[in-house]
Amino acid sequence: MRANQAPPFVMTEPYFQSLFAQRIGGAGYGKPGAIYKFEKIKRAKRKALAEHPERKLLDFGIGENDEMADPAVRRVMAEEIDKPENRGYADNGIPAFKEAAARLMQREFGVRLDPDTEINHCIGTKTALAMLPAVLINPGEVTLTTVPGYPVAGTHTQYYGGQVHRLPLLAENDFLPDLDSIPADVRRRAKLLVINYPNSPTGKTATREFYARVVEFARSNRLVVVQDAAHVMLSYDAPPLSFLQTPGAREVGVELHSLSKGWNMIGWRIGWVCGHERLVRALADVKDNCDSGQFIAIQKAAAAALDDPEIPRRTREKYRRRLEKLVAVLRRCGFDCRMPGGTYFLYTRSPRAVAGGASFATAEEFSQYLIAEHSICTVPWDDAGPFLRFSVTYEAADQAAEDELMAETQRRLRQIGPLF
Ligand SMILES: Cc1ncc(COP(=O)(O)O)c(C=O)c1O
Repeated sequence: MRANQAPPFVMTEPYFQSLFAQRIGGAGYGKPGAIYKFEKIKRAKRKALAEHPERKLLDFGIGENDEMADPAVRRVMAEEIDKPENRGYADNGIPAFKEAAARLMQREFGVRLDPDTEINHCIGTKTALAMLPAVLINPGEVTLTTVPGYPVAGTHTQYYGGQVHRLPLLAENDFLPDLDSIPADVRRRAKLLVINYPNSPTGKTATREFYARVVEFARSNRLVVVQDAAHVMLSYDAPPLSFLQTPGAREVGVELHSLSKGWNMIGWRIGWVCGHERLVRALADVKDNCDSGQFIAIQKAAAAALDDPEIPRRTREKYRRRLEKLVAVLRRCGFDCRMPGGTYFLYTRSPRAVAGGASFATAEEFSQYLIAEHSICTVPWDDAGPFLRFSVTYEAADQAAEDELMAETQRRLRQIGPLF
């Protein structure tokens, strides 16, 4: 090797490779292995774009709001960001945000909460779901979660040495978990029941009867309920329903709320936990050991957002309109789907084959086919039967653009002739 030549690049393992904790894969961490669903989708999208540059990618795979926060909220943020009193650690949050959350809970749900003791802000509900197992789960204890679903509370339960018992959300049970199916020894070790309504991805909303059953189940099995209401302002089949409206609910758990979906504030990272004072306090104690609170300017802008009832109404009407259009298109193309109760997702059974063509063992296989052959991106779920999730958070400048996108979706899907 000449003196000015760089040495050949040799990948050596860092000395700490064997030190990674088992919870993230131990010594195998970071090595090539299974490719996860979202990475597969990303790769398939890149390939479809490279092979068919002339074909617009119709992207129903994005699970994030397509709009910025309301201009009035951004104006409050712009003012607050310049105020020196907002610069410091926010710790467990400012009273103004908690008071605005209390006003919203009263206005939208008729639920009266003490902002001082029964509400705490969080840096998005994801962080609260990550922290709640620390509040309750010792090694060997169980969290009950629904699948398909948002996996964060289950992941952290396992990080703490706990176990996850999965409750499938089946079409035949109207996408509600069958609480009676839980074996007695699991119920005995269970400390947490995590539910999520309106449900992502199934779009199912909860009924008052279901929530009453959850309260009774929690009481009789002495466990804590966490109801993840991240999508609650996007409810279409009935007015938004809080778990805390259920008699006895605040004696058995907490509800998580978020400004991400209903207020188009996904990147702002702000939400709140509310319900039983002792649970809210315990979460705040754990949180105090994890973060130092959301930027006070964001909390103040979020408080202004919560005080404007029109923002979530506008968001809801937009996604309702888009879902109605999509349902009509998919039905015309042979899918058996109906308007979801809530969320911006349409969850529909995945075909087992297409007319005169390929067959598919899983929704994942069908979704790969849709991207490769038709440049249509969806998210597959195979946890409780083969289903596809279409999100209506696609970018479209106005309603004419939405209609154009729907017409193109119909043109491509009409050809395939799905068989179920
Ligand atoms: C069911 C569910 N819960 C929680 C979250 C997290 O939301 P946040 O932005 O409040 O952390 C999401 C986000 O996609 C979600 O779908």
